[in-house]
Amino acid sequence: MHKGFLRPVYGSYGVDSLLNILVTGGLGYIGSQACVALVQAGHGVVVLDDLSNSQRSVREQIEKIAGSEIHLEIGDIRDEECLCRLFNEFNFSVVFHFAGLKSPLESVAVPVDYYDCNVNGTLSLLKQMKRSQVKTLVFSSSASVYGIPAEIPVTEKNSVTNPSHPYGRSKLVVENILADLSSADREWRIACLRYFNPVGAHPSGLLGENPQTIPCNLMPYIVRVASGRLEKLSVFGVDYSTVDGTGVRDYIHVQDLVEGHLAALNYLECNSGFITLNLGTGQGVSVLQLIHEFENVTEIKIPFVTTERRAGDVAECWADASLAENMLGWKATRTLADMCRDAWRWEQQCLQKSS
Ligand SMILES: NC(=O)c1ccc[n+]([C@@H]2O[C@H](COP(=O)([O-])OP(=O)(O)OC[C@H]3O[C@@H](n4cnc5c(N)ncnc54)[C@H](O)[C@@H]3O)[C@@H](O)[C@H]2O)c1
Repeated sequence: MHKGFLRPVYGSYGVDSLLNILVTGGLGYIGSQACVALVQAGHGVVVLDDLSNSQRSVREQIEKIAGSEIHLEIGDIRDEECLCRLFNEFNFSVVFHFAGLKSPLESVAVPVDYYDCNVNGTLSLLKQMKRSQVKTLVFSSSASVYGIPAEIPVTEKNSVTNPSHPYGRSKLVVENILADLSSADREWRIACLRYFNPVGAHPSGLLGENPQTIPCNLMPYIVRVASGRLEKLSVFGVDYSTVDGTGVRDYIHVQDLVEGHLAALNYLECNSGFITLNLGTGQGVSVLQLIHEFENVTEIKIPFVTTERRAGDVAECWADASLAENMLGWKATRTLADMCRDAWRWEQQCLQKSS
């Protein structure tokens, strides 16, 4: 076993105990910030990432903020030999599974890649976890499993039968696999966390989202317009029946999301079985409201044009996050202003580095 990491007897650990945790996709936007929080909570972190949407240098940033080392393995979650080696070397107690492909738009063009990475990748991981008797998993699901929600705010009881794209369907397939696994073997402890719209960055400005291509999501696009990397923003659709005609979403600060993961880990310490929880703020924010908040916080004008609705976009979607609050004692606390401020600080850091 790797020195310095401990594996306690299950159920005996409290906040001060050390666990060995495998974080797949731990160099990515959300996973990297989860790694910081896990290390800061005293856990041993091993990252498995294939660098398909991240860079090696993220490791240094994680270690710089957390003040402690992590182990990094460059590899693919579908590589069963690699998984076997890692599970033999480190005595994991828990897996945080962030690795996957995440663009709804891209998933329409290359669905097989999405099912292969997201579904087959998870199956490889589960097979190895079973072989190694590691039965605690926190899985990154998505609000996209709801497709066009029949009721808003969206509760976990909303129908998930019809996600709008292969990406959403790949997440739903995994959720179903995990539910079946938990029914078959009650020893598993699984939390499926359905994220709404994660935005913002680590407050240090050292970790955040830096898409390699033109961003599809609103906040990364806004910050690039603000910094001059992109000329202007397109607002898709101004005739929705929403507060100001533009699309409404539930933006959640990535740090709140990360805290939700730690709360889920604490919950799984005491409870076996399978839970599915929304992680959102419970607040709907329109495109124009987000632009205005960003302008207020940064005092930078965001030029935009309005265009036709984009195919597949829903008018509005926000979470009822009360189940997570009741079960985990977790609630998002950061404001829209915090999200804008941190996203902007991160963009400025990225620009400084590239200049
Ligand atoms: N960011 C969002 O808006 C959002 C919303 C809902 C759900 N999610 C889910 O949360 C998870 C993390 O999202 P993120 O925004 O941090 O994404 P990200 O792309 O920044 O991070 C994913 C990481 O996984 C790695 N990876 C991808 N495929 C891999 C593979 N086969 N083997 C090993 N590593 C692999 C990438 O290199 C990357 O570092 C994903 O599963 C995503 O679907 C994200």
